[in-house]
Amino acid sequence: MATRRIPRPAAVAVALCAAALLAACAGASRAGCRKHVAKITDYGAVGDGKTLNTAAFAKAVADLSARARRGGAALVVPPGKWLTGPFNLTSHFTLYLDEGAEILASQDMKDWPLIAPLPSYGRGRDEPGPRYSNFIAGSNLTDVIITGKNGTINGQGQVWWDKYHAKELQFTRGYLLELLYSDNIIISNVTFVDSPSWNLHPTYCTNVTISGVTILAPVHSPNTDGIDPDSSSHVKIEDCYIVSGDDCIAVKSGWDQYGIKFNMPSQHIVIRRLTCISPTSAMIALGSEMSGGIRDVRAEDNVAISTESAVRVKSGVGRGGFVKDIFVRRLSLHTMKWVFWMTGNYGQHPDNSSDPNAMPEVTGINYSDVFAENVTMAGRMEGIPNDPYTGICISNVTAQLAPDAKELQWNCTNIKGVTSAVTPKPCPELGAEGKPCAFPEEELIIGPHKLPKCTY
Ligand SMILES: *[C@@H]1O[C@H](CO)[C@@H](O)[C@H](O)[C@H]1NC(C)=O
Ligand SMILES: *[C@@H]1O[C@H](CO)[C@@H](O)[C@H](O)[C@H]1NC(C)=O
Ligand SMILES: *[C@@H]1O[C@H](CO)[C@@H](O)[C@H](O)[C@H]1NC(C)=O
Ligand SMILES: *[C@@H]1O[C@H](CO)[C@@H](O)[C@H](O)[C@H]1NC(C)=O
Ligand SMILES: *[C@@H]1O[C@H](CO)[C@@H](O)[C@H](O)[C@H]1NC(C)=O
Ligand SMILES: *[C@@H]1O[C@H](CO)[C@@H](O)[C@H](O)[C@H]1NC(C)=O
Ligand SMILES: *[C@@H]1O[C@H](CO)[C@@H](O)[C@H](O)[C@H]1NC(C)=O
Ligand SMILES: *[C@@H]1O[C@H](CO)[C@@H](O)[C@H](O)[C@H]1NC(C)=O
Ligand SMILES: *[C@@H]1O[C@H](CO)[C@@H](O)[C@H](O)[C@H]1NC(C)=O
Ligand SMILES: *[C@@H]1O[C@H](CO)[C@@H](O)[C@H](O)[C@H]1NC(C)=O
Repeated sequence: MATRRIPRPAAVAVALCAAALLAACAGASRAGCRKHVAKITDYGAVGDGKTLNTAAFAKAVADLSARARRGGAALVVPPGKWLTGPFNLTSHFTLYLDEGAEILASQDMKDWPLIAPLPSYGRGRDEPGPRYSNFIAGSNLTDVIITGKNGTINGQGQVWWDKYHAKELQFTRGYLLELLYSDNIIISNVTFVDSPSWNLHPTYCTNVTISGVTILAPVHSPNTDGIDPDSSSHVKIEDCYIVSGDDCIAVKSGWDQYGIKFNMPSQHIVIRRLTCISPTSAMIALGSEMSGGIRDVRAEDNVAISTESAVRVKSGVGRGGFVKDIFVRRLSLHTMKWVFWMTGNYGQHPDNSSDPNAMPEVTGINYSDVFAENVTMAGRMEGIPNDPYTGICISNVTAQLAPDAKELQWNCTNIKGVTSAVTPKPCPELGAEGKPCAFPEEELIIGPHKLPKCTY
């Protein structure tokens, strides 16, 4: 964690402008910077943490949306605590949270209208039927930026977690941020805390950059996944710090028969320089909802601390779809239950009309250059009977065992693959090959080469 850099966008922009010619500076600042700028207080909002500002946010977005077509628009949230119900974003739009700005989600369920389930899920994930709104949402948008000086979006999820545990919820909890059918998204230098359920959920999106984001939730809060790219392509997640009660990242693509029918994979995804703390879940999960397919995920230079497993495949009979061409390298893992974990019997089917003959294809998963310490078990590798997980390659791995480590370090069933230079010695199903596992040489181009630096 000592390696995290502190983003100071304002200071950097000022320094750049001071050093550059005025013309060059104006040119550089144009990209992504918005012509029309308003503060949430312009719409009557009060930042006392008590006044409900739902109408102000709706009015602000509607007003700026009308102007955003001509030069873009930014909504600035100044320091203060801004309580609101859910609100939607618009295109060519920046939501800018100043230092000390905190948007608080209302804890009154009446402020969270019901919305339709996602077509690739067929129902809400906690409960059948419709679901509660997401806190911040957008559909069919382009060019959206959520940034600022590390302001906070706080889901105040405790009331939802309590009701979820008490089985008092009739509908599925909302996510903290959900964008549907949208492209050219940047989420950078903001903090998300205490989501009612998943935190960031880009779904049916392309060209998404998530950079320098902090996500915090209690490690026993239910389903508080950090970032879930779902049926989305060209997604880059970098330099993020996530502490959560569920997977730090979960790449998904729809649920059983609904996901198979919707048929939209998650692909071309980069996850790098992530720090994850998730004692009961994975640093990166592939699935469990993977029925539209997951391919070309590249994870590198990631750190996990007190996390259950590293890059985990979760699937099962009835899910169909595929998980393939997954590349993982340079992991640094500290206190892990399982360094490698693949699951072939992940249940949780949406309903009993899922197809028991829909078998997932899991193949082509390469891991290299992994260092792990205080490990309970190196590999728990479970494919599916008559549908083995194949093409697994693991090279250059050192797993140093915990004092209470399991005697059996690798347990492999319905798995086929190769290994080289792996300690402790792998199971016979992962035979010694003596060759490093490949990682694609060409970098994926996702989002802008440099993030726009704009201050408002
Ligand atoms: C942003 O704020 C969060 C929450 O206060 C803090 O944990 C994190 O370190 C901050 N990030 C930076 C880069 O300052
Ligand atoms: C976030 O901070 C980093 C580091 O200061 C900076 O390079 C980047 O441009 C910032 N992101 C945005 C969208 O301003
Ligand atoms: C947000 O937009 C969706 C449609 O995309 C709509 O169903 C929902 O009611 C809107 N929510 C708010 C709070 O305006
Ligand atoms: C959003 O885009 C999807 C996919 O193109 C389309 O089916 C849907 O009708 C659009 N929704 C709106 C509100 O335009
Ligand atoms: C499916 O589940 C519903 C509700 O649990 C039950 O009423 C129905 O009998 C089930 N159908 C089949 C074919 O098992
Ligand atoms: C093996 O992985 C370690 C990181 O765990 C790395 O430092 C080392 O350079 C790698 N060795 C080779 C031969 O690539
Ligand atoms: C090793 O892991 C155990 C939990 O399995 C934990 O209690 C202990 O503090 C860890 N030791 C170190 C040195 O991190
Ligand atoms: C090994 O894995 C199989 C399949 O999941 C399981 O049935 C078995 O109990 C495991 N063996 C040990 C010793 O954990
Ligand atoms: C993984 O690496 C091995 C060894 O270099 C290579 O044969 C295999 O094709 C790689 N897998 C993928 C999905 O590229
Ligand atoms: C992806 O984002 C970059 C930078 O915002 C842009 O130049 C590029 O055209 C986008 N690609 C697509 C397919 O929208």
